[in-house]
Amino acid sequence: MPGKLKGRRIVVTGAASGMGLSIARLFAEEGSGLALLDRNEAGVRALAGELGAAGYACDVADRSAVDTVVAKAGEALGGIDGVINAAGILVTKLFDDLEPESWDQMIAVNLTGPYNIVRAALPMLRAATRATIVNIASVSALMPMAGTAGYSASKAGLAMFTKCLGLDLGPSIRANTICPGVIKTEMTRYLWENPEHVARATERVALKRLGVPEDVARAALFFSTEESGFTTGTEFPVDGGFSWR
Ligand SMILES: NC(=O)c1ccc[n+]([C@@H]2O[C@H](COP(=O)([O-])OP(=O)(O)OC[C@H]3O[C@@H](n4cnc5c(N)ncnc54)[C@H](O)[C@@H]3O)[C@@H](O)[C@H]2O)c1
Repeated sequence: MPGKLKGRRIVVTGAASGMGLSIARLFAEEGSGLALLDRNEAGVRALAGELGAAGYACDVADRSAVDTVVAKAGEALGGIDGVINAAGILVTKLFDDLEPESWDQMIAVNLTGPYNIVRAALPMLRAATRATIVNIASVSALMPMAGTAGYSASKAGLAMFTKCLGLDLGPSIRANTICPGVIKTEMTRYLWENPEHVARATERVALKRLGVPEDVARAALFFSTEESGFTTGTEFPVDGGFSWR
């Protein structure tokens, strides 16, 4: 039923593609005021125009740019009640081949990015009632997989960061982590365009399909409303049963 986010003002990062884009669309349908951030300027501006949202080009790893843009977002929306950190990057390489630059970038975008956003939004989240933070990590935060040392470290760090936010910022602000399995987005195109990879990935999961961004968007909605009002600091897999098998 539309309207679950009526009156709320939410910042979504990584909104130009994949899960962030799907979250922005669902949240707009549910009546949220939205400020969309992405480093893809054309993409974020196009979606913002379509949804009647504020849209900003911003690299979440750039702390001073984040400070500026989050302040603008707060002004445009008249405050901030919630944050969704969906911007992220993935480099898969066995550890011998993983360049230090890739390690640094994944930590900067996937872990420090959400820190930058939450830090910049905090005074407005504090001023809001029932504020929420949703961080998109990965099943890689929960289990080791070959070739993901940097990515998994960034996402496991994000999950623990979120737990600490739950403790430090409660009771007025709740913070939860979503851990997607394989979801069909640009990030995983290399995988779902290859039928052999799809067969292997779907065989492994209990629900025998890849996820779609809407699966994650619905979970993000749950964690951004009072329907999850007694839940904070948790990791919630949206993975078709990948992480416990
Ligand atoms: N697709 C999957 O299977 C999968 C699984 C688990 C977790 N995730 C995580 O889900 C989140 C969303 O990924 P997706 O699959 O939708 O990928 P995607 O590539 O479709 O979208 C990611 C978006 O983040 C933006 N972005 C990247 N770096 C940025 C930066 N420094 N500053 C601002 N924006 C930046 C990109 O421009 C893009 O629009 C990511 O954090 C990713 O790590 C994805």
